Amino acid sequence: MKGRRTRTKRSRSGSPGLPPTPQAGILAVGTGAHVYLEVDRTAGARALDLVHAVAGLREARTTTAGVNLVVGFRPGMWRRLLPGGIPREVVGFDRALRGPDGYTMPATQHDAVLWLSGMSQDVVFDEARAALRALGSVASVSTETVGWTYRRDRDLTGFVDGTENPTLVEAPAVALVPARQAGAGGSVLLLQKWRHLAARWESLSVAAQERVIGRTKADSVELEPKPSDSHAGRTDQDVFGKIFRRNVAYGTVTDHGTIFVGFCASQRPLRAMLESMLGLRGGPRDALTRFARPLTGAFYFVPSLDALQRFAPQSEGAEGGSG
Ligand code: HEM
Repeated sequence: MKGRRTRTKRSRSGSPGLPPTPQAGILAVGTGAHVYLEVDRTAGARALDLVHAVAGLREARTTTAGVNLVVGFRPGMWRRLLPGGIPREVVGFDRALRGPDGYTMPATQHDAVLWLSGMSQDVVFDEARAALRALGSVASVSTETVGWTYRRDRDLTGFVDGTENPTLVEAPAVALVPARQAGAGGSVLLLQKWRHLAARWESLSVAAQERVIGRTKADSVELEPKPSDSHAGRTDQDVFGKIFRRNVAYGTVTDHGTIFVGFCASQRPLRAMLESMLGLRGGPRDALTRFARPLTGAFYFVPSLDALQRFAPQSEGAEGGSG
């Protein structure tokens, strides 16, 4: 009898003539349990060792476990290993971003991120443990965050989060680097953990909370006009371009917030939105930043499965070249 983990033939992703296959978890909505592991190389391990190990995490990509795995890398590290494998402009979150009034978004870049998501926490837990065992001694976990969905599609402010997200029909064009470009099939990920200042937020009336977000709380209708310092005003996609958000809640009753998980084919819109939220783009600071504080901030490049496979153990053609 075949065991759950029995392997048959090694298959390479992608086929000649087809565009590169993205990591499926980027678009796999509807999962309630999430784990984000940001890892760094251990002393003595090379970047290539880490990428080999991460690319070799095939078990977490079985279709039977019901878990999605998305992996991303420090942009500069990925570029060194695969020149031409990432859009030219993409850089890490290497310096804190500071607004005119001193409000600061910290830079906490790590070498790689593993995002596992599934229906329930037990399978995500098991697959994450297995992934860490497989990484062995080349990497250690620097930050770990367990995420969960709150009231279907709301964040812990109580507002619907994702109303203006592209649909799954539009999302690939928004989130994925187009075919025949450097890093095709890949995506730029901004991962930022925001602690909510819950008591301060809860002291506001619903009308005041709506002015902060720029939408109504019950049914997420945009305010007309939206206050210029509202969150929806500061991140307006008609101004900055579209992104694809997969935010979830994290934390406990007394210490919780939002894991901002934003994907884009280009880094520019993500970066511009952060600057706008800080008041660095000619407008006021985002009112939401008075009720939530960013604890982490990192950019990762999430390569296509085809690019990742070039580094999988025993696969031919790894290291270097464009793809
Ligand atoms: C504490 C952190 C955050 C929370 C709780 C939060 C919550 C929300 C909510 C409730 C909305 C309105 C509904 C919707 O359209 O989705 C929204 C909109 C949006 N947010 Fe956030 N957000 C956070 C951080 C960020 C960050 C860091 C960015 C960008 C880097 C961002 C980008 C956007 C965008 C692009 C929209 C849609 C704007 C539009 O075109 O109308 N958000 N967010």
